[in-house]
Amino acid sequence: MKKDIQEVLIKEEVLHQRVKELAAEITVTYQGKSPVCIGILKGSVPFFADLTRAIALPLYCDYMAVSSYGQSTKSSGTVKILKDLDVSLENKDVIVVEDIIDTGLTLQYLLDNLRSRCPASLAVCTLLNKPSRRLVDITPDYNGFNIADVFVVGYGLDYAEKYRNLPFVGVLREEIYSENSLK
Ligand code: IMP
Ligand code: MG
Repeated sequence: MKKDIQEVLIKEEVLHQRVKELAAEITVTYQGKSPVCIGILKGSVPFFADLTRAIALPLYCDYMAVSSYGQSTKSSGTVKILKDLDVSLENKDVIVVEDIIDTGLTLQYLLDNLRSRCPASLAVCTLLNKPSRRLVDITPDYNGFNIADVFVVGYGLDYAEKYRNLPFVGVLREEIYSENSLK
């Protein structure tokens, strides 16, 4: 699996340190509140688990699954809700936890959808952000790392459902996805 990685972009220790900082920031901002953290499946799972355990507040944790990519590395802009929430968001402070914001199309759709459920507040916490690829005007409230326009995998992020369990974030060798796109 590691031979498919061109370069380790963010090491495990650096990820864990930054996740702790984000959790500390959220703990201070939401003092006295019980926010609902929504993990967007499947990419946010390791980040969500580390982040929520480091937030010193009584949290509600829930999950949504959306599909926007299929097996491609490019966003289609078409979003489908595959799994919806169990909890109501009415008058709740909501934090959406994402693995990465790329074009922003997935998140724009999600935020519009969640806003219609009347939360008291709605914030976004993303591990990674690719500002140079943005097609819509969205800025995360909490952002782990800005990265360049490269396709990354690991710490939850996949290519065709692989590499999610790598403990670091790495750049995938281009041959891997260009080979597959020819099959
Ligand atoms: P967006 O709609 O273009 O912002 O895409 C967001 C989703 O695309 C993320 O939640 C990821 O699942 C996926 N994605 C975008 N960039 C990458 C990447 O570099 N590696 C793996 N998945 C990515
Ligand atoms: Mg994905």
